[in-house]
Amino acid sequence: MQNSDVITKLALDPTLYVETMLNVTPEDWQKDVLESLLTYDKISIKSGHGTGKTALLSWIILWWLSCRLPCKIAVTANTSNQLSDILWSEIGKWHRNLPQGFKDLFEFKSDKINLVGVKDSFCVARTARREQPEALQGFHSPNMLFIADEASGIDDLIFQVAEGSLSTPNAKVLLTGNPTRSSGYFFDTFHTMSHRWKNFTVSCHDSQQVNQGFIEDMKTKYGEDSNVYRIRVLGEFPDNSEDSIIPLHLISESITRDIEPSTDDVVWGLDVARFGNDKTALAKRQGNTLLEKVKTWQGKDLMETVGLVVTEYEALPYSKRPTEILVDSIGIGAGVADRLQELVDCQVTPVNVAELPGLQEKYLRLRDELWFLAREWFESRDVKIPEDESLIAELVTPRYSFMSNGKIKVESKEQMKKRGHQSPDLADAFCLTFGSKGAFANVNRNYKWNKPIERDYKWIV
Ligand SMILES: Nc1ncnc2c1ncn2[C@@H]1O[C@H](COP(=O)(O)OP(=O)(O)OP(=O)(O)O)[C@@H](O)[C@H]1O
Ligand SMILES: [Mg+2]
Repeated sequence: MQNSDVITKLALDPTLYVETMLNVTPEDWQKDVLESLLTYDKISIKSGHGTGKTALLSWIILWWLSCRLPCKIAVTANTSNQLSDILWSEIGKWHRNLPQGFKDLFEFKSDKINLVGVKDSFCVARTARREQPEALQGFHSPNMLFIADEASGIDDLIFQVAEGSLSTPNAKVLLTGNPTRSSGYFFDTFHTMSHRWKNFTVSCHDSQQVNQGFIEDMKTKYGEDSNVYRIRVLGEFPDNSEDSIIPLHLISESITRDIEPSTDDVVWGLDVARFGNDKTALAKRQGNTLLEKVKTWQGKDLMETVGLVVTEYEALPYSKRPTEILVDSIGIGAGVADRLQELVDCQVTPVNVAELPGLQEKYLRLRDELWFLAREWFESRDVKIPEDESLIAELVTPRYSFMSNGKIKVESKEQMKKRGHQSPDLADAFCLTFGSKGAFANVNRNYKWNKPIERDYKWIV
């Protein structure tokens, strides 16, 4: 068989290309998507975590570049890291399996793959940012392929700006992602626009690539009826009827987001354990950044707790030390705050979260207000937290409800325990950092579309 005959055959059979040229056996769902490429122009795939989406995109990119000439591929993703580190290295991984003759046709650059000796044929990676909405715009080729990985996290503006290009006849569009939010373009491809899209939903149960331990872990940590389980395991959009205060998509986006860290004062939140199983937790925030994973200790008395915090404080150079430590003052916390104030140079503020909030017409207690300030912080979309599974699990757990007088009330720890969840000690420590007067000011400054709120800081001594 001539080389050109081989290519014609492979162009019509992407599964054969993947099996024979890349030497990998696709999962059944991956085969279904590969076959659908021959029939459909617009394909969107939502799935649980780790099912093989990014690998599949890499195979499709290599297949398209090998078999359609001339051709262009424009790829984007929610963050530059997802593109340059994750997707690009996945393409590199499968490229190494190609037979030598094919391998040499690809010239890799940090954001582009050129086809050697073929004019106007390449795959280019473009970061999707609101300030740079032309990621998928301005491309023309008889064989045009648009790809978006982690499409749920991509700003709608990117798709709006690209709408003309994406609808060009013969252009194929492929979106994949964890279905983290029930709104936006990716969501619409499964709903209002579903008549124009070929949809796939892939659960972790449908993929051999997912470790059973991950599924069990999600089940134990969040429960099978939780939104986290729906999104990360089942590949289903979150159910909006479950009123968790901080939606998972806001938290997930804050882990991978590229931000300019702010230079505001550092504030610490300290939630002191009240009962045997509870943990003492310490969160360190500087403006838009949670500086490190929340630290926890168990089974410590008042003096030991003070000693641990002082050690943390003294281990830091002056420039990195907090200007304020906010301590939950209920129970032994009051004693911790008093003793701590004698030992550190910064202000130590006892915070009684059962007291009245600053915005009394909106929240029942200060605790409710602090949780909603934390939510506003995530909503500003200019914030970053480290990958901290325990903190994330706690942040998405509490629900809220409205009292008959219209005030917002966050679910109590007792109610959460009844639903099988532990006390959210790490998340409470994080929320305490918003009890600082300085922190309020920062939130409101970043939160552009929100008018500054007049607050009454009665609890600050
Ligand atoms: N059919 C397959 N055979 C062998 N390895 C595979 C197959 N599909 C995917 N993989 C590998 O499994 C791992 C997870 O796949 P991948 O990263 O593509 O999943 P994902 O769905 O994109 O995950 P995430 O939800 O984290 O984005 C990768 O190392 C990938 O190379
Ligand atoms: Mg992926």
